[in-house]
Amino acid sequence: MTRTDNRIYLDYAATTPVDQSVVDAMKPYQKEIFGNPASTHSFGQEARAAVEQAREDIARHIGANSDEIIFTGGGTESNNLAIQRTAFRNRNKGNHIVTSAIEHRSVLNCCRFLEHAGFRVTYVGVGADGIVDPDDVNRAIDDDTILVSVMHANNKIGSIQPIGEIGKIAHNVNVSFQYIDGESLIVGLDMTGVACSTGSACSFATLEPSHVLLAIGVGLGAAQSAVRFSLGRHTTKNEINRVLDILPGITERMREASLF
Ligand SMILES: Cc1ncc(COP(=O)(O)O)c(C=O)c1O
Repeated sequence: MTRTDNRIYLDYAATTPVDQSVVDAMKPYQKEIFGNPASTHSFGQEARAAVEQAREDIARHIGANSDEIIFTGGGTESNNLAIQRTAFRNRNKGNHIVTSAIEHRSVLNCCRFLEHAGFRVTYVGVGADGIVDPDDVNRAIDDDTILVSVMHANNKIGSIQPIGEIGKIAHNVNVSFQYIDGESLIVGLDMTGVACSTGSACSFATLEPSHVLLAIGVGLGAAQSAVRFSLGRHTTKNEINRVLDILPGITERMREASLF
């Protein structure tokens, strides 16, 4: 990644820079093989062949059939598609869904929508470690259960759920700074060139405390004081040390000025 300034990016859970190999692989499709894959002509056929090749490659890597791979525009769309499609398709078999209390809003809101549509949803809680107990899921399942949807790695606190050993290892650390409003601290840190977040990038407009932190028993005050630093492969030890140097001064100034 090209560094053009001195800022420190600690919000990898929100988004990451695109890997150079991905940029290189996608380059031909920006200008040369640009046809609409649904078109009949040769431009379209070329694009379609590339999409189908990608579908097969992905399927092979995760042990799926290529007709099980559906490309979407992002996480929210994928969650909605997977959950709603599974629910409505299996309605003749049952109407019960099991999920966890710490899912992303795109899952929770989808489940709320399904509750309005007549489905029954059980939200399994988590312990202070943010981990769903498989026994709780087992207990929640009944004869009417058609879907269990539990995230692999939590986007706010990085807890890994016991759903399989393969997958991403979350590099999140969520810290509460007593008597400091998390949002104000983000703004203050940004002014010193440090980019981090209070939670999910998709919920920037909501100033409510994180439902995930509340679910693991963090108090309201601490949840409002929480900041998420998410590290990625471009993060250096030196950057972490700089952030640790910056933090005490800025939190002290904010506590002194705080009306919180
Ligand atoms: C765990 C999780 N699921 C879903 C989403 C939503 O993804 P998108 O912004 O691509 O819709 C996010 C976004 O941060 C997320 O962290």
